[in-house]
Amino acid sequence: MRIDILTVLPELLESPFKHSIIKRAINKKIVEVNIHNIRDYSTNKHKQVDDYAFGGEAGMVMAIEPIDRLISSLKQQRVYDEIIFLTPDGETFNQQTANSLSIKKNLILLCGHYKGIDQRIRDYLITREISIGDYVLSGGELAAAVMVDSIVRIIPGAISDETSALTDSFQDHLLAPPVYTRPADYKGWKVPEIILSGNTKQIDIWRMEQAIERTQKLRPDLLKKHKGE
Ligand code: 6GU
Repeated sequence: MRIDILTVLPELLESPFKHSIIKRAINKKIVEVNIHNIRDYSTNKHKQVDDYAFGGEAGMVMAIEPIDRLISSLKQQRVYDEIIFLTPDGETFNQQTANSLSIKKNLILLCGHYKGIDQRIRDYLITREISIGDYVLSGGELAAAVMVDSIVRIIPGAISDETSALTDSFQDHLLAPPVYTRPADYKGWKVPEIILSGNTKQIDIWRMEQAIERTQKLRPDLLKKHKGE
């Protein structure tokens, strides 16, 4: 998989992909993440990427030309499955979205900024608009990092234990059961006996019960989806 992220703040995306599972996936060539600075595609002598809004609206608007030039140059090199604009008014991202995007070959993520972007970018260049939740961020960069993390970790081979991405919270609309490590007794705070029993069948049953109990308590809305309601 290849992901191209288009941004005016490439520095914001320097660290997120240099650690843990994502770093390993990149090193194993499971995914390639390329960060592009939109400013490099400005023909303006000040390398300006925004301009005053038509119609007297306050605030600056990201201009169409640098973004069109950048997207065109990428599209000349390969076919993209989706060109996604990250915006708080997009469809809400969730585990199902991550699953479906994780099987794509080439993705472009365009990070919005300032007051907005010229509507023609959304009308003519973008195939999909995604938000990561009902709150406003200063720009799409952190949202892009969230999306890439959740997409890449479920690509087969990204996690060494193949099954562990499938047992994640949300994959089956259930929250994950509790986990424990040594010591079995810390200040009298004990690990449940069943977990220490070695009876894998009983432990699996216990885990499922715990998952359902936890979901019922913390996210009853998810439990309805789990039951297929
Ligand atoms: Cl994708 N962008 C911005 N700017 N704010 C957001 C968002 C995206 N998702 C939630 N809030």
